[in-house]
Amino acid sequence: MTTPGKAGLAILISGRGSNMQAFIDACASGQLDASISIVISNSPEAPGLQRAADAGIATCCVDHREYDSREAFDQALVDCLADYRVDLVILAGFMRILTPVFITTFCGRLLNIHPSLLPLYPGLHTHRRALEAGDEEAGVTVHFVTQELDGGPPVLQARVPIIPGDTPDSLAARVMLREHIIYPMAASWHLQGRLRLEGKSAYLDEALIPANGVQYRADTS
Ligand code: GRF
Repeated sequence: MTTPGKAGLAILISGRGSNMQAFIDACASGQLDASISIVISNSPEAPGLQRAADAGIATCCVDHREYDSREAFDQALVDCLADYRVDLVILAGFMRILTPVFITTFCGRLLNIHPSLLPLYPGLHTHRRALEAGDEEAGVTVHFVTQELDGGPPVLQARVPIIPGDTPDSLAARVMLREHIIYPMAASWHLQGRLRLEGKSAYLDEALIPANGVQYRADTS
């Protein structure tokens, strides 16, 4: 439900929606001075859709299988969002590659979370790849979305240790705890006007963000 006067978020999901839940919680607690205007899924089966509806949030399914091209699907997303207040778009486990039709419409107002220490491991199976490479740490990155897949400038990054005996699932669970902290945090920076995209660079409080993003620590705020 959109609250008059409050910034509006649109959240795009494809699955369970645990990051979406982190935003629901952050809006409810006041950590985020925003309300979630709409949750969209490209899949009618996404469990997160019911989760959002149970929280009283408007939901919509734009099924990508009903469109002939990525561009037509993206235009349908843009058309759907036109009915809502959208200050910031949050991709939260949204498993479709977006085209310029969507990305240019929301340029600078479009964030994604990727479960790796970008620029390492864009794409899928990030935790398995980190384990196979023998890395000592893994993590997660919030970044602006640009045309390059998982290649937009990083905003905020959190690291976790890789522990002997880790499996992709155990590592994913450790990383996920960090995801739910840093994604609402990065969104709050944007809503406060502290975070912006300029060209291929991201700025926080007018300072250029390093290539890996701001490194999250317990005292980051
Ligand atoms: C998360 O690991 C996120 O980093 C990635 O997709 C997953 C979504 O999980 N982009 P959830 O649906 O938010 O639980």
